[in-house]
Amino acid sequence: MPAGFHRVIAIDGPAASGKSSLARELARRLGFVYVNSGAIYRAIAWYVLRRGIAPDDRACIAQRVRSVEISCHLENNESRVCIGDVDPTNHLRDDPVNKAVSQVSTVSEVRDIVTEKMRNYARAYDVVVEGRDIGSVVFPDALCKFYIDASPEVRFRRRAAEGQGDEIAARDRVDSSRRASPLTVAQDAQVIDTSDLTMEEVIAKIVEQLKRKGLPL
Ligand code: DC
Repeated sequence: MPAGFHRVIAIDGPAASGKSSLARELARRLGFVYVNSGAIYRAIAWYVLRRGIAPDDRACIAQRVRSVEISCHLENNESRVCIGDVDPTNHLRDDPVNKAVSQVSTVSEVRDIVTEKMRNYARAYDVVVEGRDIGSVVFPDALCKFYIDASPEVRFRRRAAEGQGDEIAARDRVDSSRRASPLTVAQDAQVIDTSDLTMEEVIAKIVEQLKRKGLPL
């Protein structure tokens, strides 16, 4: 990592690929901080909707996001976000947020702010960061990069099992096709398809790789 940054493990992948559970568990085993970048995008989408702004009103979103305070902190070694003095954690997976978040995330002012928040975490702590552009854009020099995938059918089933009406196919489309830092496999990322693997099997694959990098596991 460049000077000023702690160690970073980057975990990217599409919605419902299993990357959140994985990133959280890895962070726990390593004693690193778990940073969920999607939660920051979701918090901004929640705020946009709450202010009555249409998710496709890019100019208004850009202007609002520059003027509201977005503060990130830690709770139980995990990233947490407050926006305009409100902690929206309990609303981040609400249906309207699920529907709006991909579109809101295409606004470059939003991406710049979230990227800087993630880098701030890595300036202070060793981190496992999950998202869509972590290994490709936010931390191109990350110590280890993983791209966690699963078939669309498996991902849909996982979301349904969580009781969520998340239109992941639509989010995939927007996340992968946007101009600013689309979801992509970073050149040096290890791709793991989790469709037919248990969480423990995925973790075993990652741990093997991390041990090779000298991480204490
Ligand atoms: O990881 P998630 O499903 O909670 O992410 C929600 C949305 O946030 C995702 O559909 C697109 C956006 N996102 C992003 O654009 N870049 C990231 N690094 C993480 C999330």
